[in-house]
Amino acid sequence: MEPEQTKSLFRQERTDKMKKEKLLHSTKIQQMIAQYKHDMQLVDQLTADAEPHYEIEQELYKKYEVKRGLRDLDGKGVRAGLTTISKVSATQIVDGREVPAAGQLLYRGIPIEQLVQGFITHDRFGFEEIVYLLLMGHLPKADQLAQFKGLLTDYQELPNHFNSGVIMKMPSDNIMNTMAKCVLALHAYDPKPDDTSLPNVMRQCIQLVSQFPSLAVFGYQASMYFRNDKSMFIQKPDPKLSIAENILYMMRPDGKYTRLEAKLLDLCLVLHAEHGGGNNSAFTVHVVSSSGTDTYSTVAAALGSLKGPKHGGANIKVMEMFEDLKQHCPDWEDEDALREYLKGLLRGEGFDHSGLIYGMGHAVYSVSDPRAVILKSFVEQLSDEKGCHAEYQLYATVERLAKEVITQNRKIYKGVCANVDFYSGFVYRMLGLPMDLFTPIFAIARIAGWSAHRLEELINCRKIIRPAYLSVAEPQEYVPLEER
Ligand SMILES: CC(C)(COP(=O)(O)OP(=O)(O)OC[C@H]1O[C@@H](n2cnc3c(N)ncnc32)[C@H](O)[C@@H]1OP(=O)(O)O)[C@@H](O)C(=O)NCCC(=O)NCCS
Repeated sequence: MEPEQTKSLFRQERTDKMKKEKLLHSTKIQQMIAQYKHDMQLVDQLTADAEPHYEIEQELYKKYEVKRGLRDLDGKGVRAGLTTISKVSATQIVDGREVPAAGQLLYRGIPIEQLVQGFITHDRFGFEEIVYLLLMGHLPKADQLAQFKGLLTDYQELPNHFNSGVIMKMPSDNIMNTMAKCVLALHAYDPKPDDTSLPNVMRQCIQLVSQFPSLAVFGYQASMYFRNDKSMFIQKPDPKLSIAENILYMMRPDGKYTRLEAKLLDLCLVLHAEHGGGNNSAFTVHVVSSSGTDTYSTVAAALGSLKGPKHGGANIKVMEMFEDLKQHCPDWEDEDALREYLKGLLRGEGFDHSGLIYGMGHAVYSVSDPRAVILKSFVEQLSDEKGCHAEYQLYATVERLAKEVITQNRKIYKGVCANVDFYSGFVYRMLGLPMDLFTPIFAIARIAGWSAHRLEELINCRKIIRPAYLSVAEPQEYVPLEER
């Protein structure tokens, strides 16, 4: 840059800063801040007043045999439906008794290990093939796969002016919310948005699978530019590339990536594509679809569910937790210090005070999460290549110690293990992907499973999901306003 240009840039920055400061001290802004504080005081009082009216005696749950979280006391989910899309299991029968076993995940009846082995051995990308398997119910032949990839490419482009008219308008700091906004807006661009006939829903689903990477990446770029004062870089997807390659291609200003990087991201997409009908976001898809609403409303709801830190949002929490851990335990080999840190987390003392060790535990898996096992083996390879081996060792140690301290400090009936999100964030960071995109990448994968569950609900159920809630409210006399 020329010296004159640099000077003018500095002058511009100074003027902008002065403008911002002036604005902050303007009477109007001061009034808005005072109004906000005043209103919040009132809201705090209202909340304190309301809270006791919500509380339900814990004993009543037992008395009326209410399955909290739709779970049995031992944590096992209440049976709420049937599915052929995938199977998640974590037990085996020994001497007629059900006992914890290594976790198993099958997509359409095929173990995930075999599916991964299939495309890794033949050095091809697997995600598109898995989307086909989940949606169609069987593995594609070579020509069927080629045709399906062609369809994904045809649907890749976003509608005219969607980027400027929707994505760039009021971008959220949370890309999951931006994606949900975009998905709801796509309803307006669809010639048959509310048609729930199967071919129409299938078309909408394939379109969403294809467009999700652009929604996530462009949403991220918009947030960087408009909310974080960073440069914006918009690169349209390349129709010749796989979905995993396109994410890296669109995210990197030079559009370059190595084959190993793209293959590992592809593996992450495959491992996150589906996880049974009972996982929180798939169940959301069943519940919302059962009301007869449209595909866009359904998928927006599922995105909201996935965002939660106990579900897809856990991968961000894992990374933040590790950043905090590194500050408190600078010696990564001091196991006593690491153990104390983890115990503190369980006491709700450190990090986000939630009492959780993120990346550990699962509603179904006990001995192991097969996705975490597969991912871990590849993570070690990548960490060697990226010079992050010491950090990989730290993750492995924390995984071992966390299992120990959770088992000692929580009522765990079935055992506890690292889940897929324990390692996925570490992979994304080694790939240079920003934390803001971790959960959106999960969504880019999981739209495959959501789509299959929506079709399954529409084809088989035809009954609105409507469980019962028992009212335990005490009767109250109505008191006229002037007598209260
Ligand atoms: C995933 C998760 C919500 C499953 O919880 P769950 O179905 O209640 O699991 P379990 O039945 O085995 O849990 C038994 C107890 O151990 C606790 N527990 C399980 N995992 C825990 C963890 N990682 N940290 C602290 N406590 C944990 C549970 O909160 C529960 O305690 P409670 O009875 O007081 O509610 C839970 O393990 C968790 O919050 N993990 C951290 C977040 C995470 O990584 N999510 C990604 C999931 S893929």
